[in-house]
Amino acid sequence: MLLPQSLWALVTLLWLSVPSVRAQTTPVSLSFNTPVTLTGRNFSTTSTPLLFSLPSPSSPEVTVSLALVFVSNSSSAQVVPGPTGGADVYEVILSGLGLGNFTFELQTGITGVLAVYGGSAADSLEIGVSQGTTPLHAPLADVPFFGDSTANEALLFSPPFLPPTPAPQPTYPNYTLPLANTSLPSPPATQNTPNFTLFLAPLSARLTALPQTACAVRAGVTNDPRAARSAQVLAEQLWLRDSQGWRREWLVGQLTPLTNYSVYAIQDGTRLSGPLYFTTKSGDVVLVPTRTRVALLPDHGYAVPLPVPPARALVYDATNLPDSLATPLLGYLTNFTTSLLTTACDCAGCQTAYRHWLCSISFPRCGEFPQTESTSKQGEQEQPLTVPLPALVSQPSGMTPRNAALGNVSDYTALLPCLETCQAVDRACPIFLGFRCPLPDFTASASYGVGYIDSADGDVQGGGIPGVAQDQWGNVLCNAS
Ligand SMILES: *[C@@H]1O[C@H](CO)[C@@H](O)[C@H](O)[C@H]1NC(C)=O
Ligand SMILES: *[C@@H]1O[C@H](CO)[C@@H](O)[C@H](O)[C@H]1NC(C)=O
Ligand SMILES: *[C@@H]1O[C@H](CO)[C@@H](O)[C@H](O)[C@H]1NC(C)=O
Ligand SMILES: *[C@@H]1O[C@H](CO)[C@@H](O)[C@H](O)[C@H]1NC(C)=O
Ligand SMILES: *[C@@H]1O[C@H](CO)[C@@H](O)[C@H](O)[C@H]1NC(C)=O
Ligand SMILES: *[C@@H]1O[C@H](CO)[C@@H](O)[C@H](O)[C@H]1NC(C)=O
Ligand SMILES: *[C@@H]1O[C@H](CO)[C@@H](O)[C@H](O)[C@H]1NC(C)=O
Ligand SMILES: *[C@@H]1O[C@H](CO)[C@@H](O)[C@H](O)[C@H]1NC(C)=O
Ligand SMILES: *[C@@H]1O[C@H](CO)[C@@H](O)[C@H](O)[C@H]1NC(C)=O
Repeated sequence: MLLPQSLWALVTLLWLSVPSVRAQTTPVSLSFNTPVTLTGRNFSTTSTPLLFSLPSPSSPEVTVSLALVFVSNSSSAQVVPGPTGGADVYEVILSGLGLGNFTFELQTGITGVLAVYGGSAADSLEIGVSQGTTPLHAPLADVPFFGDSTANEALLFSPPFLPPTPAPQPTYPNYTLPLANTSLPSPPATQNTPNFTLFLAPLSARLTALPQTACAVRAGVTNDPRAARSAQVLAEQLWLRDSQGWRREWLVGQLTPLTNYSVYAIQDGTRLSGPLYFTTKSGDVVLVPTRTRVALLPDHGYAVPLPVPPARALVYDATNLPDSLATPLLGYLTNFTTSLLTTACDCAGCQTAYRHWLCSISFPRCGEFPQTESTSKQGEQEQPLTVPLPALVSQPSGMTPRNAALGNVSDYTALLPCLETCQAVDRACPIFLGFRCPLPDFTASASYGVGYIDSADGDVQGGGIPGVAQDQWGNVLCNAS
């Protein structure tokens, strides 16, 4: 039998001691969906395996997920599964990520047995049993999402877990649209939401070098002083960021400027999502960190060039946004909605796209020219592709701001909205409104990030066609929020 190179010390011991023994101990009972954690002290130094009895299933499909073991669904009570094999004895093979699973049939009335051999003080192992074919420790396909960062704060999101309830579409003859100052949908009930926990650490803590499992990452953050010292979740809530669905949102503080962080989210204690990378901004950008916080609008959450919110609030939201900013914005939206309703049209999508675009141009997003020297040197892995330059424009103080209501802000660098944010309005809205976006190969790049998302305009700016506004490695190319 060939074993992958990446198996832990546990396997080595396994092969040094090739026992076919009877268990000395009574098996520990496992329950479905409740993982059991083993640490160094639990592992046997003799050839005696640690034995576990599998729970009796209500359906015959049982999946064992964990790190390293032999399992048996044999009807013979005598069988202790082990390296010598035998009928109905299986080895659970670990992948390079440090995770293994095995699905088999367990007949009613038969007690399955799981045996763990060897192990050392440095090892740690988590075992979970579930019914059906999804292993309890199955990694999530989606990585967390990066909202934005300042020098020492970041807005991070879990992968989406629940699609939004579709808004009732206006139908003939009753065309109404949501008010300009829309009320946010109420979050789903707690029992319908998975439990997500955020783990992040600077690259120097090397979380990505650990086995990519929930238990290894959690232990890595908890036990590493570099990881544990930094980063604190200041606030969290459920947030419907976009049509992909509800996410858990975290506002994280106490970060170090100009540092590349790796981020994981763990669902229900066992399912790992990540890594996502992001880099904090430098401390010497005037507006960061002392004056900038993250503004939260329905689908917006990024660093804006505004003073610290009043009453020491952590962020701007509908309740503390200055009237000088909110009132004109709501005026535009109300007037736009009124024009829309002058004809009988199915225009909810148009209003949504317009709101999104209006917020993106009214609230400029702070960006920063990449400090390639300092950030890329910390990298452990190669950059996957040549990343185009982001759509950044310097905004010297004293220059007339794009949004006059912002007032006289200090120097900052703006990350321009993606042109596709404008084109979405053009596409969704009726022609009579006369909404027009600038042409990609002409004037657009003065006010928009051009050529990042749609390949059609890829020859203009950026030098690459990534097809996205931002990626998992922490590159943010234009503002799609
Ligand atoms: C592992 O060891 C701890 C501490 O010695 C003990 O409390 C726990 O019951 C052990 N777990 C198993 C599954 O043997
Ligand atoms: C054990 O599981 C295997 C794979 O699912 C199945 O083919 C076999 O019939 C099972 N044995 C018993 C005794 O249930
Ligand atoms: C379960 O194990 C099989 C191989 O036995 C592997 O192909 C599959 O990716 C594993 N699934 C998970 C979620 O680890
Ligand atoms: C029209 O639709 C709105 C919201 O969709 C609803 O509140 C209102 O009662 C409806 N009016 C009529 C006359 O059906
Ligand atoms: C969520 O998970 C954490 C860590 O696993 C746990 O401490 C907490 O009690 C859980 N919360 C709920 C509501 O299940
Ligand atoms: C918008 O709605 C929020 C909450 O419903 C409210 O606190 C705020 O004052 C409203 N803003 C304006 C400008 O009416
Ligand atoms: C909205 O329309 C009214 C009436 O036409 C006008 O007085 C007002 O200035 C408009 N508001 C904005 C923000 O354009
Ligand atoms: C952060 O580190 C990762 C892993 O080394 C690397 O791939 C990524 O490019 C870095 N991100 C930035 C923005 O430098
Ligand atoms: C804006 O602020 C800068 C520096 O704080 C100052 O030099 C400039 O005169 C101000 N401009 C206006 C129009 O107030």
